[in-house]
Order: sequence, then structure tokens, then C-alpha cells
Amino acid sequence: MNIILLGPPGAGKGTQAAFLVEKYGMVQLSTGDILRAAVKAGTEVGKMADEIMKAGKLFPDELMAEILGEHMDAIPSGKGLIFDGYPRTAPQVGLLDKLLSSRGRNLDHVIELVVDEDALVERIVGRYTCANCGDGYHDTFKLPKVDGTCDKCGAHEFKRRPDDNEETVRTRMAEYRAKTEPILPLYDERGLVTRVDGMAPIADVTDAIEAIFP
Ligand code: AP5
Repeated sequence: MNIILLGPPGAGKGTQAAFLVEKYGMVQLSTGDILRAAVKAGTEVGKMADEIMKAGKLFPDELMAEILGEHMDAIPSGKGLIFDGYPRTAPQVGLLDKLLSSRGRNLDHVIELVVDEDALVERIVGRYTCANCGDGYHDTFKLPKVDGTCDKCGAHEFKRRPDDNEETVRTRMAEYRAKTEPILPLYDERGLVTRVDGMAPIADVTDAIEAIFP
């Protein structure tokens, strides 16, 4: 099964993808994570991505598709894919169709996390991850069980994303409204979209997503 998790910044795409990876052995393809890895590696792509991401703008469509395709090629064909943060523009919808069909894959579901934008700034500005294993936390909504210690790997260092400040978040949301929201009708026409209340508690959102699966 191949699915898209769609929703504005902070909607919970990464949070839900992590559960699906653990429970179903699917593979998460987060284009944001892919670009952040390139930034960390200091490649040419990374330098370009760093500037764009800090501004809250979108990386170019064609290059993003090329990079995503390389990552898809590294995944065994039997594994289901979770697209987290892709597609984000109308051209990316067409590019994803090609990426999938050229690899003999179909798109099964587009899951839209429906959220209240006003609450998202708090979600994003409060989030952080384990610097060692990447497990996600939040100052209010998801604290580690032992203060200052990662639940998953026991590390004590955490980090925050440079684009998780209020000003950049507002730009990211404006980009979502202008460029990503308009792609939903394209998938609606194909009967692929299921809407899930992304404002519910994290576990309830997971249950609602699982209810979509056969
Ligand atoms: P990306 O990394 O994809 O960021 P994003 O879409 O802005 O999404 P986020 O990762 O911020 O949010 P999320 O929905 O995963 O929420 P999370 O689960 O963490 O993209 C970053 C940048 O890369 C873009 O701005 C762009 O520049 C570039 N880029 C990426 N893809 C691109 C593409 N396809 N084309 C061009 N450019 C691209 O949750 C947030 C917090 O809320 C967490 O702390 C979590 O614990 C908490 N939380 C989650 N769910 C709930 C809940 N139900 N209740 C309470 N708290 C919750």
C-alpha cells in the first residue's frame, strides 16, 4: 500500500508516519527529512535547500522529484510507502504519478489531516527531537517520560529545527494554502482522499488512519 499524508506544517504528518512505520513496516519518505539530511551533509543540494527552507519557501519541483526518485529506488518493491510532505504543488502531483507508475506502484490513499491553523504555531514552535535517534517530542503535548532523556534511545541531547520559528511557520502556512491545498481536488476527483480530524489526540488520529486501511 502506498499513501500520502497531507496537511499543513505541524498537522502531524511525521508523528503519524512514525506509528505506521512501526506497526506496518511501511517506509516513510519525508521530503523535508531528505532535504535536511542534504543540508547536514553540506552538499550543493543541501546549500540550496538550507536557504529555501529557512525562508519557508518550496524547493524546485523537478529537482525534488529527481531526489525523491533516487530514494524510492533504494526501497524494496514489497514495502509500502508513506509520502510525508510530498506532493506539495500541482506539478508535483504529475511528477509523483510518473515516479510511481515507472516503478510499478499505485497510489492507494491520500489522507488529509484536517487541522485548525491557529493551533499549529504552538505545535511547531514547541516541538523538538532527540539529537541521536530523531524521536519527536513537544514542550506541552509529548514530553519524554523521564525529563531530559529520550524514551526511545536514552540520549540526553535534543534539537529544534531552524525553520520552526513563528515568522517562518507563517510563510510555510501561506505556501501550503497557495500551492498545496489546491492539489486536494485533483485527488478528490480520483476518489482517493479521506479526511481525518488532526486536532484529535495523537492516538485517536492514529486509530482514524488505521480505520482507512483494509
Ligand atoms: P517538512 O519537513 O515537510 O515540514 P512541514 O510540512 O512544514 O511539516 P512539519 O514537519 O513541520 O509538520 P508535521 O505535519 O510532520 O507535524 P509533526 O508530526 O512534526 O518541510 C520543511 C521544508 O522543506 C518546507 O518548508 C520546504 O522548504 C521543504 N520541502 C519539503 N518537502 C518539499 C516538497 N515536496 N517540495 C518542495 N519543498 C519541500 O507534529 C508537529 C508537533 O505537533 C509535534 O511536536 C507533535 O508531537 C505534535 N502533534 C502532532 N499531532 C498532534 C496532535 N494530534 N495533538 C497534539 N499534538 C500533536
